[in-house]
Amino acid sequence: MANEASNGRNVVSTKPPPEPSPLRKAKFFKANMRILVTGGAGFIGSHLVDKLMENEKNEVIVVDNYFTGSKDNLRQWIGHPRFELIRHDVTEPLLVEVDQIYHLACPASPIFYKYNPVKTIKTNVIGTLNMLGLAKRVGARILLTSTSEVYGDPLVHPQTEDYWGNVNPIGVRSCYDEGKRVAETLMFDYHRQHGIEIRIARIFNTYGPRMNIDDGRVVSNFLAQAIRDEPLTVQLPGTQTRSFCYVSDMVDGLIRLMEGDHTGPINIGNPGEFTMLELAETVKEMINPDVKIISVENTPDDPRQRKPDITKAKELLGWEPKIKLRNGIPLMEDDFRKRLGILRKN
Ligand SMILES: NC(=O)c1ccc[n+]([C@@H]2O[C@H](COP(=O)([O-])OP(=O)(O)OC[C@H]3O[C@@H](n4cnc5c(N)ncnc54)[C@H](O)[C@@H]3O)[C@@H](O)[C@H]2O)c1
Repeated sequence: MANEASNGRNVVSTKPPPEPSPLRKAKFFKANMRILVTGGAGFIGSHLVDKLMENEKNEVIVVDNYFTGSKDNLRQWIGHPRFELIRHDVTEPLLVEVDQIYHLACPASPIFYKYNPVKTIKTNVIGTLNMLGLAKRVGARILLTSTSEVYGDPLVHPQTEDYWGNVNPIGVRSCYDEGKRVAETLMFDYHRQHGIEIRIARIFNTYGPRMNIDDGRVVSNFLAQAIRDEPLTVQLPGTQTRSFCYVSDMVDGLIRLMEGDHTGPINIGNPGEFTMLELAETVKEMINPDVKIISVENTPDDPRQRKPDITKAKELLGWEPKIKLRNGIPLMEDDFRKRLGILRKN
């Protein structure tokens, strides 16, 4: 049965939130909001940093171990007086005086999270514990980027927040799926037990500039293949569906969730649903009509369908995505061509 927490409405903690650390009132403290972004050198994190830095009242601190992220994604901010970049692994404790924590650190692509599954689960569990410990110590509000993978291979379609999921606990994707489920549990336990102000976003597939080019995620794969004149490889059966949210819409949703009054979990994603074959055909038509589309074997536990129900995001955050796939793909193409060094044909 669904409970209060699982329907995206607020769960009221029995404890008041912890007081901000006295160090926040230090002599040289300026009236800025100091924000920590873990995983801020990654794809979504770096776009989030760009947006947060637009507000001159914000100071932004990024913590990243550069496993899948890169300093290059943040190059425009390095040396900026309101920006700090720290090489740090979230599986180790950290103390920084901050008001808000956006906790994104975790590899998101199956190629990378399966590369070292034990490290992935440590990042999700120990990393989240460390960030919650920090939030408790300094009285910060913390937002976790969870994932639609918590729904596993869903038996309910589209997925609402009160669906508890259909996840294989011992499969090759479990380090990520179950890792994020435990991370959500930890968030709510810290909220109920210690009064920590928490926010949980369940992110659905996101795409845009700065995605890792060969990371096995379907939009980046098809785009890189089309630009390189290679066949687009659609995993069988090709009728499995996904929905794709452009990264600027995602960042807007995350900031609204952090600034709003609702703990979540709240689905943030684009409900427009495409089969993998439709996506391949769209990329072929828009980027390179000469490439072939071929079928390849699928990976174990690949969900057959995925589509967010975003009623809660609309009602509670006033959020819905604005960028359609056909408008987002060209924005991503420019970035991919620049990084691959392949110009348009005409
Ligand atoms: N992109 C998506 O479609 C999607 C979908 C669902 C959820 N998410 C979640 O959003 C977050 C960001 O995803 P992304 O697509 O930007 O991925 P990404 O791999 O580009 O970014 C993750 C960042 O975390 C860093 N990182 C990984 N392990 C770390 C550790 N132990 N300590 C410190 N830093 C570490 C990486 O170096 C990288 O910069 C992740 O938590 C992911 O699970 C993303």
